[in-house]
Parts: sequence; structure tokens; C-alpha cells
Amino acid sequence: MNIRRLASINTTDEFKNYLSENNITLPVAENIPVGKNSALNRPYLLDGKTIGNRFCILPMEGWDGTADGHPTDLVRRRWSNFGRSGAKLIWGGEAAAVRMDGRANPHQLMINEDTLADIADLRQLLVTTHKDNYGNTDDLLVGLQLTHSGRFSCPHDSKIREPSILYHHPLLDKKFGIPSDSAVMTDDDISRLELDYIKAAELAQKAGFDFVDVKHCHGYLGHEFLSAVERPGRFGGSFENRTRFLSDVVHGIRSKTPGISIGVRLSAFDFIPFQKGENGKGEPVKYDHDHYPYAFGGDGTGTGIDLTEPILFLKKLLALGVRLVCITAGSPYYVPHIQRPALFPPSDAYQPPEDPLVGVARLISATSALKRAVPELTVVGSGYSYLQEWLPNVAEAVIANGDADFIGYGRMVLSYPDFAVDVLNGRALKKNRICRTFSDCTTAPRMGLVSGCFPLDEYYRGLPDYEALANAKKKS
Ligand SMILES: Cc1cc2nc3c(=O)[nH]c(=O)nc-3n(C[C@H](O)[C@H](O)[C@H](O)COP(=O)(O)O)c2cc1C
Ligand code: SF4
Repeated sequence: MNIRRLASINTTDEFKNYLSENNITLPVAENIPVGKNSALNRPYLLDGKTIGNRFCILPMEGWDGTADGHPTDLVRRRWSNFGRSGAKLIWGGEAAAVRMDGRANPHQLMINEDTLADIADLRQLLVTTHKDNYGNTDDLLVGLQLTHSGRFSCPHDSKIREPSILYHHPLLDKKFGIPSDSAVMTDDDISRLELDYIKAAELAQKAGFDFVDVKHCHGYLGHEFLSAVERPGRFGGSFENRTRFLSDVVHGIRSKTPGISIGVRLSAFDFIPFQKGENGKGEPVKYDHDHYPYAFGGDGTGTGIDLTEPILFLKKLLALGVRLVCITAGSPYYVPHIQRPALFPPSDAYQPPEDPLVGVARLISATSALKRAVPELTVVGSGYSYLQEWLPNVAEAVIANGDADFIGYGRMVLSYPDFAVDVLNGRALKKNRICRTFSDCTTAPRMGLVSGCFPLDEYYRGLPDYEALANAKKKS
């Protein structure tokens, strides 16, 4: 496999040829119209509210809150950049833990009575920055992502995991050192956690957010329910039981905080964990059974997709009155290549097992199939940053074709905060700001440092973590 660097491709034809030579199917617009003729510039109407354009900033935490879950200046800078981005849908800002034991790292934000005023100020900063830059915030929609990190919880010390699990997963328990006799959350534990989500949504409304995301992705707790096929009791086994947490939380939020909208970020498919194989390239871990049952949206082979249950999940959202959904996949802990396609892997991962464009195309095609299966939903796609110079061409075609309603991107906003504005105004892209998927924003937190775009955002060069990251990478 010879992966060509996208920066070396100069024309749309060359890009299309590269795709076709490698059997990669992606929609590509020849030109990006400006103004009213651009699909990306077309407003979207959601429940009577207009969202000004089709770009969405995906949630991205920075491992840079205080020990008790308040934002710091680094968090405020990131949220201010989200406001400056020009995107009119802000999906969650970043994961905010609904309680201490559910933090993915000791610097994750928390939403509780103590942090409420600061979280409200954070949202206001984003909105004010947007207003200062674009004049109008009537067409801006801002949500907060609510999380419990489940088996990846690490609330007190970045080196010590304190997992809360729903079932013993034979491969993930082994990979992440979870003893086979450790306790599993009981049904009563889950019912108590539901109350924390419901309370968090009430607080999010007080903080001024338009919606909350009841996160069901990336291997965290909400996502783990969906693969709890072997768990006995009310929250495992049947599809109905595996989605009970979702429906309990949605009903609870509706009864306590009827004014707030609800969204769900979903890992719509998952793979068997990957590991470093020959030459450092990723390969599936060995599994001595014919059927791999722990991948929600998987076809049982460990690396194939079956969207039957994800479609049922989306229909359930619709029945619950939830219209906003953001489609992502897998988990950054065990299959980063299907979730955030990259040419240069994070320090604890593996070299790409496929051209990262295959990962982008897989996400876009699954999102399109889901949108077509349940067209009433408002669907946000994810994982576009790897497209680099070609992101606008693919994004324009995706929206024009109706393959998704919004283009969600994450890493690109870290390296290039005003990317969306440049695209929407037909300006030439700033080449030196384009995210090249160096993965330092993932490597740094894996080493206990803050996240951020160390290579391209000059602000990080002045931080002590810049040198610490360089030294840690030399040693690894
Ligand atoms: C540094 C970093 C932090 C992230 N934090 C979150 C998060 O808090 N919640 C979440 O749902 N996804 C998180 N993600 C995943 C992104 O939202 C997004 O799905 C992923 O980066 C792929 O999109 P992209 O190719 O545009 O970067 C994070 C990704 C990165 C790189
Ligand atoms: S560190 Fe910067 S260039 Fe590298 S993946 Fe993250 S955002 Fe992109």
C-alpha cells in the first residue's frame, strides 16, 4: 500500500483519479460555489430554528480543565475558537462528565452546581466571539456533550484507570488490564447514573445551551450499553434492554427540563480491537471464535458492518422525539483508524492498516445509508479532517447529494480555526494551517499533557507541554 500525501495532489481530476485507482468511493464536487449557490451555505431548519450553514464543530476536549472540572484559559481559548470558526452548529463543545467517577481524565470538565457559572460563561464566550465576528447569533445552535467514560474512566490520576463496566469484554478487559472478577455496574448503579444525566441536562439549560448530547459513542458508557448482549437484567441482552438507558434518560430530561433539545452522538459501527502487527501496521487482535458479538453495528466478522441495529436505534430516537444525531464510529482507544483517520498515528496506536481515505469513505457511506434509512432525522457526519485540501469538495457534494445534513469536523478547527469561513467565502485555503493528521493532539494527552495542535498552533509552542511532548516522543 502506497499512501499518497493529499497535499501533493493539485487538481480535482488528480484527486478523483487517485480515488478510482484505489477503489475508494467518495462524492467530489468539481467546484465550491460561493453564496446562495453553495449547498454548504444553505440554512437548515430544525424544529422552527434556523441554523445558518452546514458546518458543525465536533466535540473535542483538551485534557486542560482544573482538577475539580472547571474550565481554564486553555479551554476558554478553544471554545472561543469554536465561536470564531463560522460553523453554525456546535456539537457539544467537549465532553463534560456528569459526575466525578465518569471523567475520562483528571482534567475533564464536569457539569455540576459548583461548575455551572463557569460553564455558562464558557458558552457565553463562544457566542460572544461568534457575534463579534459574524454579527448574528440567531442562527447558531450550541449543545453540551454529557458523558460518563465507563471502562475508560480515569478521574484522579492520568496513569490510573478506574473503570466502570457493564460487562466483561474478553478482549478489552485484557488490553486495558481489567481483572475478570472485578465488579460490574449493577442495575441500581445505572438507575442512579440516569439521575445524574437528567440533573446535568437541567444544569445545561440553566447555562444557556440549546441542546444536550446523551453521548453513545467511542467506547464510553453509553456506547457500551449497545454491545451488552451478554449482560443479564434490565440493561442487557435484547435491543430493548440495551437501549433502556437511552430511553430512561430522554424521558427523564423531558419531564424535568422540557425546554432543552436532545441530541445523540452515536458510534454507528464498531470493529474488533486492533493492535500493532508486522512493521507496526494495525491488524485485528486474534479471536478464536467464528462470531464477534461485541461490535455494535458490526456483522459478526469483527471488521464488517451491518447497519440493521443502528437503523433500529435511529428509529427509536425518532420515536423518542430526538431529531439530532451525530454519526461517528468505533473508539479512539482500540480502533482509532475507523474513528479519526490519520496518516501519522498517535504514540500508543499503529501505522494505518488502510489508506486513511478508506476510513473517511467508510464513515461517509455509513452516514449516508443511515440518513437515507431515517430521513426525518437531522444527521451530522464526522471524520472529515483527513480530507485536507479536498474537504470542501467532498463536503459540498455530501450536502448537495443529501448524504448528510451537516459536515462535522474536529481536528481541522484546532489547526485552522477559521477554516469554515474561508470555505464559505470562497477564499484560498491557508495551506500552513491545514491539519495534516500528525496526531499530536491525541499523543499529548496519552502522555498526561494537555491536548492541542502542537505542530501548527503557535500558541502551544510557548507552553511547557510543548517541550515535554517533544521529549516524550523522542523516548517512545
Ligand atoms: C483531541 C481530540 C479530542 C476529542 N474529544 C472528543 C470528545 O470530547 N467527544 C467526542 O465525542 N469526540 C471527541 N473527539 C473525536 C472528534 O469529535 C472527531 O470525531 C474526530 O476527531 C474525527 O473527526 P476529524 O477527522 O474531523 O478530526 C476528539 C478528537 C480529538 C482529536
Ligand atoms: S496535532 Fe494538529 S495537525 Fe496534528 S492531528 Fe491534531 S490538529 Fe491535526
